Amino acid sequence: MKRGKFITLEGGEGVGKTTNLEYIRQFLLEHQIEVVVTREPGGVPIAEKLRSLIVEETSLYPEAELLLLFAGRVHHIRELILPSLHQGKWVICDRFTDASYAYQGEGRGIPWRRIEYLENWLQVGLKPDLTLLLDAPVEVGMTRARQRKDNNRFERESLAFMQRVRRAYLLLSQQYPERIRRIDATRPLSQVQAQIGGILQELVTSWQQS
Ligand code: TMP
Repeated sequence: MKRGKFITLEGGEGVGKTTNLEYIRQFLLEHQIEVVVTREPGGVPIAEKLRSLIVEETSLYPEAELLLLFAGRVHHIRELILPSLHQGKWVICDRFTDASYAYQGEGRGIPWRRIEYLENWLQVGLKPDLTLLLDAPVEVGMTRARQRKDNNRFERESLAFMQRVRRAYLLLSQQYPERIRRIDATRPLSQVQAQIGGILQELVTSWQQS
């Protein structure tokens, strides 16, 4: 059985992740690929319980927040992501460890080397095969995100926080240009999806030929 591919979707608040996640799912299904769509924080029952704490609890220390994220991630990886990939399914995950570097690292000020340590220890070598970074100026995304009701505590963060998050994502995409592909999310949706479709097509073709 050929191992499936692991795709993650990243970006600040209000950049259109949900719409594009559905586009990716449809694209892969049309190519006869079995798909599992999941998210972080969350994805499996224990991690979903931790998610509520992470997105709602206002008195968490940054370090505690980071550790809770990784606690959920351990379960998510072992119970869902790795088993699905080994069954030949493709896993699409709405956010993953890059978000920890961006939000807990740049956003909350935890040194990246500490996050790297947790990643190396807990992810047993698992990294996304492809990360699509939906990028837009912070003002654009925050306005969209704040129009939703029931904002979580990340969506209520300051503009300065979100600017650090965006800067971190851009830095990561420069550090890992092969894996992280930046998508300009300010363009019309049809253009955004044409670009995503092109990137996915490359990955699907190389996988089918492997
Ligand atoms: P979502 O609403 O985009 O699904 O994600 C919930 C929030 O969790 C989002 O605002 C970013 C945050 N988050 C982190 O701070 N660190 C992480 O590692 C992950 C996966 C998410």
